[in-house]
Amino acid sequence: MIINNQILNGKTLAATIKNELAEELKHYLARGYRPPRMVVVLVGEDAPSMTYVASKEKSSIEIGFTSSVLRLPEDITEDELLKVVDALNEDDEVDGFIVQLPLPLHLNEKRVLHAIAAEKDVDGFTPTNTGLMVLGEDTYLPPNIMGVCTMFERYNINSDGKHVVIVGSSNIACTPTATLISSNAKHANCSITICNYRSHNLAEITRQADILIVDINHPNFITADMVKEGVVLIDVGIHRIPDASRPSGYHLTGDVDHAQVDQLCSWYTPVPGGVGPMTIVSLLQNTMKAYKRKFQL
Ligand code: GUN
Repeated sequence: MIINNQILNGKTLAATIKNELAEELKHYLARGYRPPRMVVVLVGEDAPSMTYVASKEKSSIEIGFTSSVLRLPEDITEDELLKVVDALNEDDEVDGFIVQLPLPLHLNEKRVLHAIAAEKDVDGFTPTNTGLMVLGEDTYLPPNIMGVCTMFERYNINSDGKHVVIVGSSNIACTPTATLISSNAKHANCSITICNYRSHNLAEITRQADILIVDINHPNFITADMVKEGVVLIDVGIHRIPDASRPSGYHLTGDVDHAQVDQLCSWYTPVPGGVGPMTIVSLLQNTMKAYKRKFQL
């Protein structure tokens, strides 16, 4: 494989797609339809989650959607939260909504996610939408992996015949990634290995990867000795590392030690500016899809 060190620039690609969505929306507004509406439910005050949901709201509004964050107290009961979900399910003005994860530990995440109406589940986390994805049918794909697949498409990264190694086991990124890649005709000819940061001989496995996707929640875990030259590297991780030299008091890093690994890659996603912005724009694409389905546009 060629080492050409090219950046999979999620930030610029997301901006392009946002423009495309804004342009498309203009046609519907000109025909008298109301704008799409996406709501984010945030329980508690987890600092990274507060930043992410603010970005989701801001991006929605930038392209002409209406959006709001429903901020709920940390000590909300499960029944109260389920009532909020029910109300959003019933609200005709809301096209799509998500419940930001992680939830406080006293809440049963699955029970809450499973209560979301499938047609408004723009995170693609409900059993119905997961099932449709497994069957390779048109549905709302989880924004994280949808963003990665969009990067592959727009940057012409071909998985044909390649070995894709996924390190991690999260339901947000890893399991859907493996499912999507194995059920999507576009990626039908690749081999997939799923492992975890505790897998025996992990470096031996990751060194076989033509495409390496990492989401393990361990900063700078993937080092130069764990990749082969020319790999396409997707870093899903994002961590705040305390840093007194920054006005914010922290800097961001991924699960990959980019200072040593990037130079070995044919393509790589930076952190920040790689997978993150693509995840947000995919959520907007799913909301547009829900809106178009609702009004049969
Ligand atoms: N927390 C981290 N990523 C995500 C995501 O894609 N959706 C939700 N709902 N919560 C998250």
